[in-house]
Amino acid sequence: MDKILVLDFGGQYNQLIARRVRSLNVYAEIKSFDHISVSKIKETGYKGIIFTGGPNSVYDERSPHYSKDILELNIPILGICYGDQLLAYMTNGKIVSAKNNSEYGRTELINQGGKLLEGVPDKSICWMSHTDYIKDVPEGFKITGTTKSCPCAAMENINKNFYGVQFHPEVTHTEYGMKILSNFIFDVCKCHPDWKMEDFAKSSIEKYKKELADKRVLLGLSGGLDSSVVALLLHKAIGKNLICVFVDHGLLRKDEGDYVEKIFKDKFDVNLIRVDAKNRFLTKLKGITEPEAKRKIIGKEFIEVFRTEAKKIGNIDVLSQGTIYPDVIESGKGSSAVIKSHHNVGGLPKDIGFKSIVEPLRDLFKDEVRAIGLELGLPEELVYRQPFPGPGLAVRIIGEITEEKIRIAQDSDAILREEFKKNGLDKLANQYFTVVTNTQSVGVMGDARTYGYTLALRAVTTDDFMTATWTRVPYEILEHISSRITNEVKGINRVTYDITSKPPATVEWE
Ligand code: XMP
Repeated sequence: MDKILVLDFGGQYNQLIARRVRSLNVYAEIKSFDHISVSKIKETGYKGIIFTGGPNSVYDERSPHYSKDILELNIPILGICYGDQLLAYMTNGKIVSAKNNSEYGRTELINQGGKLLEGVPDKSICWMSHTDYIKDVPEGFKITGTTKSCPCAAMENINKNFYGVQFHPEVTHTEYGMKILSNFIFDVCKCHPDWKMEDFAKSSIEKYKKELADKRVLLGLSGGLDSSVVALLLHKAIGKNLICVFVDHGLLRKDEGDYVEKIFKDKFDVNLIRVDAKNRFLTKLKGITEPEAKRKIIGKEFIEVFRTEAKKIGNIDVLSQGTIYPDVIESGKGSSAVIKSHHNVGGLPKDIGFKSIVEPLRDLFKDEVRAIGLELGLPEELVYRQPFPGPGLAVRIIGEITEEKIRIAQDSDAILREEFKKNGLDKLANQYFTVVTNTQSVGVMGDARTYGYTLALRAVTTDDFMTATWTRVPYEILEHISSRITNEVKGINRVTYDITSKPPATVEWE
């Protein structure tokens, strides 16, 4: 199998580069520049190397550098952004700072002709993000692309097979980015497009068979896609030595706890411990109405339950987590304001005695995880299901959480999901659920007065859940759902539809 090395110098799009290469059916792996030696690169037999973006200036002593011996390996190199400048620096080009003239965002690229930009029109849009630029190209290189303010937006030395682009071909804003990457991968590196996502599953299973042989591994299974995929992957590798703990906090969707247990225990024979912790959670949540306080209690209690179970199990060597790449980026955001304290099965206690952590999906994006899930035989229903927050229905119950409100949330949500599926709206909305508001109002049923809760329906359409618009659900379907819920769910006498986008609202109500 042909492999590309993405040599990581700390840029923000590095995973995206690897993902784009993988989407061309060639395997790409990311290694930090300080975690792989030249001899290891040689030994692995990569067909090509991509230097990623990174911090601002190659002249800054703190910026990452790499041994020049890499240039002697006779392996094609493509430098991107900082990687481009680093390549120029290592081959004696001149880089200068354009402090007052940095380029950022959409920029017109003029193709000057060359191997890397073959097939790219004379003028196209690329995505720039830099302050420094290459003023003098190194000997043996020629300039193959320019922009208004960047004299060397692309360069190449076809004798050595060294290529560089100042812009980011991996982002979709660069119109011909995939063409450029594919020119490098296929025309320069001569890779064969014979890698498939299924190969990732196979090679991971082989890898963990060896790495985790005779080790006891603990995994927090939530029933969501990511931890489910990890469970199956590791189960195939180490069988019963994988112990999955599924904490049922009583705030799951209707019948969900049973469903998760059935799939993993009965269908796949996974070593699963289901902890029924509903009472523990409800006791802690009694009388609490403030959203953040609820979230914090649930997060903390979750860790406590997990810790107790881990102690009971004892002798754990490795903790595994279903972290995927977007989680890694999100947790790296650092200084952004806390809108909601998210809690996931990730972030588990470090004091339960394990020696290391294994995160098999850490480099992958959601759609890649889905492909592996399908390959491993996870039911489509689970693979494609809408996201469900860690604190569960708690973020959909306003005010105090009571048994009655949980029942209302579960029963109404089940009706909404059934109707969305029946009417094909599950394809239009990316997330849909009901919210038990804390508002009660007067209604009439038969000849009697009722005083029940108002239920809100919420459905959003979004790519990334960072922004979202409310889904245009036809009136007749809303009417039907409203009528079913008021008839079938005791305690609800009024239904509303939330027509707010994100921002200013968030997807969940709490
Ligand atoms: P918001 O409400 O922040 O939600 O617009 C965006 C997406 O994140 C999900 N969400 C969570 N997921 N733990 C999670 O795993 C959480 O604490 C959490 N809170 C919100 C939400 O369902 C939506 O998909």
